[in-house]
Amino acid sequence: MFSQANETKLNEIITHYPVKRSAVLPALYIAQEEHGYVTDDDVRYIAERLDMRVNEVEEVVTFYTMYSRQPIGKYKLQVCRTLSCMLLGAEQITEHLEHKLGIGVGETTTDGRFTLQEVECLGYCDLAPCLQVNFDYHEKVTTGSVDDIINKLS
Ligand code: FES
Repeated sequence: MFSQANETKLNEIITHYPVKRSAVLPALYIAQEEHGYVTDDDVRYIAERLDMRVNEVEEVVTFYTMYSRQPIGKYKLQVCRTLSCMLLGAEQITEHLEHKLGIGVGETTTDGRFTLQEVECLGYCDLAPCLQVNFDYHEKVTTGSVDDIINKLS
């Protein structure tokens, strides 16, 4: 199911936990790294490897916004929409990105570069509003700083 390198990584990660199912989050990361998103086959395979039911893995992958169940852009833009960020302009940031990229929330640009999402609290409430780009966090963003961030992405 995974490349040999990722299969080796999964086997090693499983040894870190007293109960196999505890490795579900890193296993899903491996799947996403391998295929760009978590496929139906990944969900079945991880369930089999970790002695879980398929629906249990599905529940995990759909609960956390860091996993995607469909192909996404090279850059996943996640705008926090929870209270602090919303009060300090997150809605305007989202609208700005929709206009700039020509897509709506949940959509990917036709060139496959950007996917726009709204997510719940990113944990930087005192530095709102916040934008996460893949694994990078940007705090106190403005429409201007968002433009700079986007323009710097290759
Ligand atoms: S409310 Fe946006 S980071 Fe917490």
